[in-house]
Amino acid sequence: MKIVILAGGSGTRLFPLSRADYPKQFLKISDDTSYLQKTAGRFLGMVKARDMVIVTNNDYYYHVKSQMSEIGLKDCHIICEPEGRNTAPAIALATVFCQEKLGAREDECIFVTPSDHIIEPVGRFQAVVKKVRENCEGTGAIVTIGIKPVQPETGYGYIMCGAQQSDCCYHVEAFKEKPNKSLAEQYVASGRYYWNSGMFAFTPAVMLAELAKNASDIYELTARGYDELVRDFQEMPNISLDYAVAEKAGNMQVCLMDDVYWNDVGSFDAIVETVPEEDGNRVIGELVAADAHDNLIIGRERLICTIGVSNLIVADTPDALLICEKGRSQQVKEIVNKLKAAE
Ligand code: GDD
Ligand code: MG
Repeated sequence: MKIVILAGGSGTRLFPLSRADYPKQFLKISDDTSYLQKTAGRFLGMVKARDMVIVTNNDYYYHVKSQMSEIGLKDCHIICEPEGRNTAPAIALATVFCQEKLGAREDECIFVTPSDHIIEPVGRFQAVVKKVRENCEGTGAIVTIGIKPVQPETGYGYIMCGAQQSDCCYHVEAFKEKPNKSLAEQYVASGRYYWNSGMFAFTPAVMLAELAKNASDIYELTARGYDELVRDFQEMPNISLDYAVAEKAGNMQVCLMDDVYWNDVGSFDAIVETVPEEDGNRVIGELVAADAHDNLIIGRERLICTIGVSNLIVADTPDALLICEKGRSQQVKEIVNKLKAAE
């Protein structure tokens, strides 16, 4: 099995902690390991470092390299897209790399994962990966991992579960990426849909066949081989695998991951539940509080003091401070847009 870690995204929903030149996957929020380092670490014991491929872009290459060295994974491969084109081209590039440079077999599982999620505990997650791999190599399906939805979140893909195929895997009846609110509400109410966790497992033969069928522009570029593909990467369309393949593929399965905690850390509000409460607040860093409660405080650079405030998210960095009402952290993107417009 090869592990492909997607680490080229540039989301800014955790501004001011994340920046365009230092996005979420590199952040060390709760301790001294970043989301990317935790992601790679999750597969240790299952594969060797030389079977791991991190796909990023030229701007982030040194962040990836130094973070992998820090955790002793110098032997993993880092490949760079000259320009980000979203996940479908990134996954196509990694698939060709695995085949051509790592000698991946036609029927060997390539397990693709985002680099910026929290998934715990590792042991139970590895048990799910093992089942996913068995199903992928045994049936030739593209296997996704489904999460039981708890609210009609519109930022996720939704997977409609069909007939049971094996132990925990079901046929995917339909895949809908980022539905609107009313569709998302219907999906959650139906009880038949799961959130797509963003992880995909497939064999090179199956992924290339699906690209040929559903994204022929991407497929034709892959036929040029790895080195030419990197050179001509700007010819790739900008599209995620969810839209390019998952919404259209017929042979997909979903493995349900019910007993593992999953959080895509899509906003500061998503971080709240991951930080234990102490004396009424959730704190990463040092806080002195008087009559202040139910706040999330993140700031490891200096002491933070609060008096008489509640339901706030405070994220402190050396050059920017965010103070936001809880429940409204999706609006961080408005701040980022204003800053961009002012540049
Ligand atoms: N190498 C590379 N190049 N990586 C990329 C690129 C790119 O151009 N764009 C995004 N990534 C990485 C991100 O860093 C992240 O780790 C992962 O690919 C997924 O990209 P996101 O941009 O975070 O996708 P999303 O969150 O909107 O949606 C995906 O994840 C959801 C779960 O969190 C989809 O797969 C949804 O269906 C899914 O529900
Ligand atoms: Mg994401």
